[in-house]
Amino acid sequence: MSKHADKTYTPPPDKAITHRALIIAALADGTTRVFNPSICEDTLATAACLKKLGIRIKFSKTSLQVKGLGLKGLKKPAGPLNAGQSGTTMRLMAGVLAGQDFDSVIKGHGSLLKRPMTRLTKPLSAMGARVSSSGGRPPLKISCAPLTGACLKLSVPSAQVKSAALLAGLYAGGRTSVTERVKTRDHTERLLKHLRAKIKTSGLKTVLEPGALKAGRIKIPGDISSAAPFIAAALLLGRTLLIREVGLNPARLGLVKTLQRMGARLKVKVKRSGPEPVGEIIIFPAKLKGVKIAPDEIPAMIDELALLALLAASAKGKTVIRGITELRHKESDRIKTTSALLRRLGVKAAFKTDSLTITGPQKLLGGGSIETFNDHRVAMAAAVGSLLAEKPVKIKNAGCVKKSYPGFFHDFKKVFQ
Ligand code: S3P
Repeated sequence: MSKHADKTYTPPPDKAITHRALIIAALADGTTRVFNPSICEDTLATAACLKKLGIRIKFSKTSLQVKGLGLKGLKKPAGPLNAGQSGTTMRLMAGVLAGQDFDSVIKGHGSLLKRPMTRLTKPLSAMGARVSSSGGRPPLKISCAPLTGACLKLSVPSAQVKSAALLAGLYAGGRTSVTERVKTRDHTERLLKHLRAKIKTSGLKTVLEPGALKAGRIKIPGDISSAAPFIAAALLLGRTLLIREVGLNPARLGLVKTLQRMGARLKVKVKRSGPEPVGEIIIFPAKLKGVKIAPDEIPAMIDELALLALLAASAKGKTVIRGITELRHKESDRIKTTSALLRRLGVKAAFKTDSLTITGPQKLLGGGSIETFNDHRVAMAAAVGSLLAEKPVKIKNAGCVKKSYPGFFHDFKKVFQ
């Protein structure tokens, strides 16, 4: 343990990177070993879809072996694929399915049925794909059609949509270029490159040439989004905490950078790189102050905004977070559900269509039960809030954390009790 830290915590493996590792390995020639994979409801949904397409995945205690069948090796599934409640599974798999020489259907359930798909079907259609949704929502029907390269400009900042276009691009007749308005997580680009795709990113533009992938070894770092509630709780309780083996991809560090601007003492150290930077974060006690957050800063902390709201409530002064509309399209409408969470904890916040203002410091009163709306990120933020609340709170349907982090409550108790 570091000489500075009261406690050490190692987050579970990164969910977003594991989805991509499974899919990209399945499309490569040969067997890829994925070390330290995330095993949760969402990644298991991706694995199940790939198995239905004929991919063999062998699970061992700390790694997975994916027998890639090459770009042309997937088999027509016997029935619809099921993405469960995983948006990443549905959108990334749609990119792959668009390139196959068979028709397919991918369905889902629960919260996934409400999530928007037009943002995905539009760019895929521009590449020649025949993808239809049910009034802009799942399920997706994908019919066999030749893909052409395209020059895509994405209007919605979404790593899932960008990734789907790049995966489809592997099958296109020519070059695909994808330009974003704001940088989103680039795990797909990094892993494609790692397995030898012809891909190049400069600034906001990524260019991919179609072509085969080669199997390799992939080590998944710890998930910064799963570590985020631990960062928030350590800061709110004034504890020193060392977070080890955590992914430090710059496009995921929005919360860390914002907290540093708020006066938090967070020491970030990259220990190794390739394909993803990995290292540690040490959190030292500090007083926070309110800041202004611009829309361009949101994608790098898109899954951490409920936590940021709690931290803003404890900070001195006004925090204004702008550009939050995308929150409406997560596992729950997180503008509504974060607002309900804050209200339940006794925090006053002003939500507008696209912004949130909180003036602190405020006490967290708590008392009674907190609804999670079946949203894993809301449940984890509620756990952080409950540590600080003056009156005990009960978190309803806390089991929804299984979506990304089945061991969350066990680990959280271990570090903070
Ligand atoms: C993800 C991208 C983000 C994020 C989600 C995971 C990914 O979604 O909120 O939890 O794996 O690419 P969007 O692409 O919809 O912003």
